[in-house]
Amino acid sequence: MDNKKTVLLGISGGISAYKSVYVASGLKKKGYDVRVVMTENAAKFVTPLTFETMSCGKVVTDVFDPRNDTPTEHIKLGHAADLILIAPATANTIAKLAHGIADNMLTTTALAATCPKLISPAMNTDMFENPATQDNLNILRDYGFDIIEPAYGMLACGVEGKGKMPEPDVLISYVEQWISKPKDMKGLKVLVTAGPTEEAVDPVRYITNHSSGKMGYALARMAARRGAEVTLVSGRTALPREPFVETVDVLSAEDMFKAVTERAPEMDVVIKAAAVADFTPANPASEKIKKADLAVSSTGMDGGRDMSIKLAPTKDILKYLGEHRRPGQFLCGFAMETQNLMENASAKLAKKNVDMICANSLRTKGAGFAGDTNVVTMITKDGIKELPLMSKTDAADAILDEIMLHVK
Ligand code: CTP
Repeated sequence: MDNKKTVLLGISGGISAYKSVYVASGLKKKGYDVRVVMTENAAKFVTPLTFETMSCGKVVTDVFDPRNDTPTEHIKLGHAADLILIAPATANTIAKLAHGIADNMLTTTALAATCPKLISPAMNTDMFENPATQDNLNILRDYGFDIIEPAYGMLACGVEGKGKMPEPDVLISYVEQWISKPKDMKGLKVLVTAGPTEEAVDPVRYITNHSSGKMGYALARMAARRGAEVTLVSGRTALPREPFVETVDVLSAEDMFKAVTERAPEMDVVIKAAAVADFTPANPASEKIKKADLAVSSTGMDGGRDMSIKLAPTKDILKYLGEHRRPGQFLCGFAMETQNLMENASAKLAKKNVDMICANSLRTKGAGFAGDTNVVTMITKDGIKELPLMSKTDAADAILDEIMLHVK
């Protein structure tokens, strides 16, 4: 990562401190410099040595420890941090932070730091919902802290409720959202579509395609990280929700048409990465189609039945957007082809009146639906740019870079 960023991970004394080990490890894998400050109680759940062994530097737990590098270690650590994540944050630590109490290394360092601060409260539901804790969290919100909502689930006390520290990946996405990218898309409204559509044959069956949604989700994630206000209109996928993105779930091409065209007028950029069905059953059955009701096959085995489905074209959403775009709006489509990639993709630029087509061939190694990589060629009126094989996340970033060259 360019300009390595420093994340200060503050850990207070709760059972979910064990999950902070995975947070530290995940952040390190992503290239962040991770420093750790623990309260004395946190060090009863997980030892400082765990983090030190993971190359998080010397873990500081005591302001007055003569082994600290400097007598003002709290100031040094606070100033070196690009972001502080306190996870888990106990009710006690939250109360101290809200009232400027600096009686241990964690609270003192947080008070001295001017960087963005994220808090991940983790405690029993009643403690979390107690008005004192809620008031303290509101004070912290007013001070500019970002509070990460605790998750629901089985708590250490054996009760099911709200109060769990979210999974490490969620906390890592918060960190990335705050500091991984310059916010060059701030002020832009971006709509991304992703995933397949499902076209009902009857209440039990549908016609779909192999789209995993990964390319569209990566575009939505990276646009949000770059500061855009992102709406993701998604067909059914197996992917987890993207934090910081408003997701609208749809199933059919018709649902997607409605969801997109309703929202498009207010969007600055629309990226259509979804694999929309071109055809849908013309007369979907309202009840399950039974084999016995079908005509007996003239060619099949004894008792075999013929089944044919009449298909009707769906509405071409991108073409509609091209015809109804407002001045200054940027439209980007995708073209997944199996042959004559450049010819077919370039034709779509004109046919659908869009500004850019991202072409990818199902025949290219490393490109296509299910994998985590793609090979994209970006076609605009100004020319053609080929991207090498890269992760879908990097491809998304490169596509957004190109879009930003054209968006005023
Ligand atoms: N698309 C759309 N609505 C449809 C079909 C496609 O908005 N009903 C969009 C896709 O999201 C994609 C682009 O159009 O961004 C190209 O999709 P593709 O299926 O490759 O193109 P088609 O227009 O269907 O052309 P063809 O069947 O000739 O490949």
